[in-house]
Amino acid sequence: MGSAMTERARPTALDPTDWQEFRRLSHQALDDMITQLETIETRPVWQPMPAAVRESFRQALPHSGRDLADVLADFDADIAPYATGNRHPLFMGWVHGAGTPVGMLGEMLAAGLNANCGGRDHVGIEVERQVTRWVAEMFGFPGHASGLFVTGTSMANFLGLLVARNKALGDDVRVAGLKAASSQLVAYASAQAHGCIAQALELAGIGSGNLRLIPIDETGAIRIDALREAIAADRNAGLLPFLVFGTAGSVNMGAVDDLDAIADIARSEGIWFHVDGAFGALATLSPALKPLVKGMERADSIGFDFHKWAHVPYDAGFLIVRDPDAHRRTFAAAATYLQRAPRGLAEGETWPSDIGPDLSRGFRALKTWFTIQTLGADRIGAAIEACCAVARHLAASLQAEPLFDVVAPVTLNVVVWRVAGDVDDNVNNEIVMDLHERGVAVPSMTTIGGRPAMRAAIVNHRTGTAHIDGFVAELLATTRRLQGRFPKRR
Ligand SMILES: Cc1ncc(COP(=O)(O)O)c(C=O)c1O
Repeated sequence: MGSAMTERARPTALDPTDWQEFRRLSHQALDDMITQLETIETRPVWQPMPAAVRESFRQALPHSGRDLADVLADFDADIAPYATGNRHPLFMGWVHGAGTPVGMLGEMLAAGLNANCGGRDHVGIEVERQVTRWVAEMFGFPGHASGLFVTGTSMANFLGLLVARNKALGDDVRVAGLKAASSQLVAYASAQAHGCIAQALELAGIGSGNLRLIPIDETGAIRIDALREAIAADRNAGLLPFLVFGTAGSVNMGAVDDLDAIADIARSEGIWFHVDGAFGALATLSPALKPLVKGMERADSIGFDFHKWAHVPYDAGFLIVRDPDAHRRTFAAAATYLQRAPRGLAEGETWPSDIGPDLSRGFRALKTWFTIQTLGADRIGAAIEACCAVARHLAASLQAEPLFDVVAPVTLNVVVWRVAGDVDDNVNNEIVMDLHERGVAVPSMTTIGGRPAMRAAIVNHRTGTAHIDGFVAELLATTRRLQGRFPKRR
């Protein structure tokens, strides 16, 4: 029956009319992309899009299709050259993973399967459960902890907050809203916490005004004494402390909070402890770095990204929650169209849609499974450790130059510096933009102590010390060329 159905192509089906030609072009496209990855260093890190290319994306909705060969030619000419640049070893701006060829393959095969991983009884759900158990093992969580893929850590932190809110106020909060609270909920995070945490409070209707941003110490970590005092003050004022965020790898400085001390406070205060480990949580895969994130294993929940330091292609954020019941009670809802069956495809007790808000979900677990299966956790850990060594090499090279001041300690992989001496601080941003525009390297800009600074987050497994030496030489030349144009205003 199956062959009879496929013999006659339906005119409305969207499959290729010539499978052989599709196969040929697809193999060529894959080959070209593998060559791109193999030769990534021969191209500029980033290049601005010419006006004509930008203009080519302003066309009206195409009503008829074009040949795939033509569309692939457009991809080669107008899309591939103008991507973010994060695959290149001299990309060190922001905190971006570099991807891996094997992750790309996993992503492509997942698209081929086109599985909807919202629920039901199929292998996509089983692979995600496998990855969840690996995450629990990596972080020292119990094997029954529940977890799911999300877009990124911003979403994981938000969902972690919702579980904490539910735990603090009980299930009533889902129906009654925040009126279920006997008093105002308050959360805590370091002053260096990522902006998505304040946003999560806003999205949850609690309000970012109820997030206490606790001062940091000289390493950039939350001050534990100040955290204790803030909680006590809020309790005295009749407020309801319910959640403390610890940061494992702050975005600006790579600082790591004392997670053990936060866990102690959370336990004695009876409040939820969520770790924002967007990139830093995976430092646990390196035996040398693991002590830095000690205490993370005591968290109630952790948000992190496989697409950062594990280099799974975007996107592959993840939330793990120690207490599966608390997790499920926050999101699960009965719906007739999601009814479970004792047998068949609708079998299964807890589906991903019971522990998160998404019902349609891609097979993010597959590219992650491919990455971990082929590389192994130890090799990923070694690449993370190498990034930190490269960051220390960069910091030492900059410190050796009288032209620069390194302005933050290097705990993990983030180096922050600015031009020393009698110059307008804006020169720092100009240098960064100049390096970007020439495609030489991509550091980023930030502000430390209220003043502009340059920043390198070494996340890329392709970046080595020789790249850094080349970068420092370019940075020096660029700084010498520009600094005279930015005298300090008296
Ligand atoms: C510490 C920290 N938290 C949260 C985020 C946000 O993660 P995402 O971009 O995956 O939403 C980042 C991003 O760099 C981060 O460094």
